[in-house]
Amino acid sequence: MTTLDDQARAILKKNDKGGYTLPTHGLYPYQWNWDSAFAAWGFATFDNARAWDELDTLFASQWDNGMVPHIIFHQSDPGYFPGPDVWGTGQWPETSGISQPPVAATLARLIWDMDPEAGRARIARLYPAMERWHRWWHEARCGHGPVAIIHPWESGRDNCPDWDIGMAGVDGSRVAPYTRRDTGHVNPEMRPTKEDYDRYIAIVEFGRDVGWDDARIVADGPFLMADPGITFILLRAHEDLIAIGDALGHDTTELQGWAKALRAALPVIWNAELGAYDARDLRSDAFAGVLGSGAFLAYLADAATPELDAQLDRVWDKVNFGIPSADPEAASFNPRKYWRGPTWPVVNALIALGLTSSGRHELAERLRAETAELIRQHGFYEYFDPIDATPCGGADFTWTAAIWLTWAGKAPATAVKGAA
Ligand code: DGY
Repeated sequence: MTTLDDQARAILKKNDKGGYTLPTHGLYPYQWNWDSAFAAWGFATFDNARAWDELDTLFASQWDNGMVPHIIFHQSDPGYFPGPDVWGTGQWPETSGISQPPVAATLARLIWDMDPEAGRARIARLYPAMERWHRWWHEARCGHGPVAIIHPWESGRDNCPDWDIGMAGVDGSRVAPYTRRDTGHVNPEMRPTKEDYDRYIAIVEFGRDVGWDDARIVADGPFLMADPGITFILLRAHEDLIAIGDALGHDTTELQGWAKALRAALPVIWNAELGAYDARDLRSDAFAGVLGSGAFLAYLADAATPELDAQLDRVWDKVNFGIPSADPEAASFNPRKYWRGPTWPVVNALIALGLTSSGRHELAERLRAETAELIRQHGFYEYFDPIDATPCGGADFTWTAAIWLTWAGKAPATAVKGAA
């Protein structure tokens, strides 16, 4: 009988293109940044060397300025839009021009823990590249304090309600006609709208027109919002990279300074009226005014507050499976539309990591059990309806398989160190 563990390993192997892993066939035919870091974590449960290879491939496409792109277009695929011609970054292999949540250092540390001896040389080789990426985040994206994103795709939580106020100011009306490909692979009702897409492309075109000059994009680009999700992920990743650097005998003073500055900026994204961390439009200073799953990543960075605990209880009790990506009581909530409500196994894994690190073991176990139930009922989907468990988006998803092997499929007593 094939077990879910066997199925998860088979998905990683099926999506493995030799050194890098597709998120899923069809919908996402290239290497995506944070998907790839999760793939590495999954591979580490049965092939440690392959895990490090995945991270090496990701960092091999690091730009000279330290940025690690969100997509690496290893081989052309007409089934995806917007492809390399739209991004026009002039990199080889071709890449997109924005980044994605920097989970790599955190997951690299967990992978190293899983086989310290084999991992030492591998992580030592990666360390300078990870440090350069963190420096890029600090210099190019943290000028306002918290992490600013220049495109909703940079957040990884593409169309969550957090970005609505920033997106409202983007003019998508002058984008030339194009054909979307995502809606040919999965149910269009579960994907962002055409209005969203027009604006996504308009923001990409701005970046391309200024030669992906970060300073110009941050100063004048059509979209600039503070993202609680990446802020907490980066803060945790800084701290993990400091631990890695210390263990390898590096001077981590600079990294400690970046972490300290980022922690000091957290009040900028605390919305007292909402009683939670909140995204903020850095052009107008207005808060999004809506609770998203990015706020709950505060647990990862030891930044939770009693108000946030209460919000977690409230939001979680409104659904049956996992943490929803958006507030179920908000008017914008849609339980099947991408990041506007569905629960994402991979975000649940990150939140659980934070719940565990902050000593909230019972909550971490509840989240693990609910996420495992979704996968048991329906398989390794991209995301799920948190109320009735309907599987959504792409099937046979790499990062869902990866978090099954490392976390969701593990009974608490045998969980990988550091995870729930
Ligand atoms: C997509 O293509 O939907 C991605 O989320 C953008 O990176």
